Amino acid sequence: MMRPPLILAYLLRFLVLPAIAAGASSCSIKGFPLVKNISDLPQDNYGRGGLSHITVAGSVLHGLKEVEVWLQTFSPGSGTPIHRHSCEEVFIVLKGSGTLLLASSSHEKYPGKPQEHFIFPNSTFHIPVNDAHQVWNSNRHEDLQLLAIISRPPVKVFIYEDWFMPHIAAKLRFPYYWDEQCLQGPDKDEL
Ligand SMILES: *[C@@H]1O[C@H](CO)[C@@H](O)[C@H](O)[C@H]1NC(C)=O
Ligand SMILES: *[C@@H]1O[C@H](CO)[C@@H](O)[C@H](O)[C@H]1NC(C)=O
Repeated sequence: MMRPPLILAYLLRFLVLPAIAAGASSCSIKGFPLVKNISDLPQDNYGRGGLSHITVAGSVLHGLKEVEVWLQTFSPGSGTPIHRHSCEEVFIVLKGSGTLLLASSSHEKYPGKPQEHFIFPNSTFHIPVNDAHQVWNSNRHEDLQLLAIISRPPVKVFIYEDWFMPHIAAKLRFPYYWDEQCLQGPDKDEL
């Protein structure tokens, strides 16, 4: 029979410590090799229908300070909310097609009627800082998959219900969906 200190050591080694490590692992890439298979990274819809999101390289998970990279897949009919953020964003469409809606009316009180742009495989575009935009999969037959690269992570997003909602009424979402579970520490500064 094991003596109490041994039992304690056993409990710690095989039950308690692994549980702590497992809890920590969803919020850290400790234990991942430098070169990672994207398929092994956490993937989730974060409660948003039609979305599959992977943070390929990020602030909260990987400690990046200047950029963050997302791989996102939108099923037909799904897309991002209408939103703005005070960082730059570059998109590269890997698969599928869809629609970019962009309102570049930074002097108006609300975004206003957006310009509509067709996006297609191997297309790329960038969103100017603070311009309200929405990307959605308007193709009924195929998933839309893209890489999104943002500056100044973790992202702080202002969401609009429609294109005529005043900028000041847009709802702040911070931490954003995929940062929520793991983000700790003081709030990020405003620009
Ligand atoms: C990366 O992961 C995918 C899915 O599990 C697998 O099919 C592929 O072989 C992996 N690549 C390498 C080089 O291990
Ligand atoms: C995307 O464009 C680049 C530059 O023309 C080209 O080399 C690459 O093969 C294209 N990729 C696809 C998937 O079409």
